[in-house]
Amino acid sequence: MNILVLGSGGREHTFAHQLAKSERCKNLFVAPGNAGTAAFATNVALSVTDFSAIEKCVVDNDIEMVIVGPEDPLVQGITNYFAETHSLKKVKIIGPSKRGALLEGSKERAKEFMMAHNIPTAAYASFTSESLEAGKSFLETLSPPYVLKADGLAAGKGVLIIEDISEAKEELEAMLGGKFGGASTTVVIEEFLDGIELSVFVLTDGKNYKVLPTAKDYKRIGEGDKGLNTGGMGAISPVPFADATLMQKIEERIVKPTVDGLKKEEIDYKGFVFIGIIKVGDEPLVIEYNVRMGDPETEVVLPRIKTDFVDLMEATYEQNLDIMPIEIDPRSAATVMLVSGGYPEAYDKGKKITGVENVVDSIVFHAGTKLDGDDVVTNGGRVIAVTSLDEDYKKAIKKSYQSCEKITFDRMYYRTDIGFDL
Ligand code: AMP
Ligand code: GLY
Repeated sequence: MNILVLGSGGREHTFAHQLAKSERCKNLFVAPGNAGTAAFATNVALSVTDFSAIEKCVVDNDIEMVIVGPEDPLVQGITNYFAETHSLKKVKIIGPSKRGALLEGSKERAKEFMMAHNIPTAAYASFTSESLEAGKSFLETLSPPYVLKADGLAAGKGVLIIEDISEAKEELEAMLGGKFGGASTTVVIEEFLDGIELSVFVLTDGKNYKVLPTAKDYKRIGEGDKGLNTGGMGAISPVPFADATLMQKIEERIVKPTVDGLKKEEIDYKGFVFIGIIKVGDEPLVIEYNVRMGDPETEVVLPRIKTDFVDLMEATYEQNLDIMPIEIDPRSAATVMLVSGGYPEAYDKGKKITGVENVVDSIVFHAGTKLDGDDVVTNGGRVIAVTSLDEDYKKAIKKSYQSCEKITFDRMYYRTDIGFDL
């Protein structure tokens, strides 16, 4: 069948790579894609939130399946648009409905969902400009550090963790005053949880689910997890400390109640749930939901899935996941992100990338790249993810670092300590 992947990052290159392995995948399109996807699929220049352009692309190319990578089109209701549009009704689109996507689109909604379904999470309260004084009083009842979250999508920047109470009160006022525009009209204040984080990925068809491999990402720009937050500088799968006991708790207390909650609330959800979990002592609690796969977690989770990916996506759409076997590669995967110097602050684009063809032991997933004539050039902060598989995560990381050394571009930077805390 003809398949379209929406998005342009390392996550979408990885989706395309998995789909292309299937004999069932005839023509593969990625919109807008990058230089990596251009090498084996057809890139289509369009915006992932331009639903009528997507509709035209799907109709013109007889596309039967669409995989949505990023959250924006989901939060804006792309799945509902497909269901309501005559020419798109039968297209197998993978992604939750608009109501489902609110689990990521609104932190307050996510907290209410967790409370309603008894899913363990940090204690919280939410506030608007009318309740600013109550918010300040609520902060007084907590102990530091204080966690303030903009309710809406804020490009990954909407969570603030602050030590000082008066600074926390000032930030609350600034957020409610429009610091993140409409995204911080409501602010969730929550109890700080002290523990170690991991990401759990679930594929659900709305009735059944499969727990996919776990992953841990490294979000800070600097070694030792210091410095500014990024989209993610590297990842490892599986997470060594996610043993059978912890995974059982996560499945019983978090995964099952989440899927059951979606069912009880009659929310159409056929897609990925990315559950950000923090282990406090021995107990898992939910930090956040995302309604898509993570990036760069996808670059370590998907290469470990051996099941035909078109079959898996189709079973999700047809609600047959209960009878769909899923085979996972027992090896570990590690990915290292090569980024543009300056990222996550200002950086240059258009730098020529060389040496990718010399990488033989790893898979090179493009993130922020594009073609410039015959050259592949940088086109974003996160440029390339280098993924390796090996019998344990240390060997996989080592392999990725050996491959990273073969790639160059002006002001290339990467962390050399991925996995340091495991
Ligand atoms: P989020 O955007 O919800 O993923 O939050 C960004 C990061 O803030 C998380 O990955 C955590 O490291 C941290 N964080 C969020 N909520 C809490 C919390 N209640 N306690 C401790 N850390 C938190
Ligand atoms: N790596 C974190 C995310 O995709 O949100």
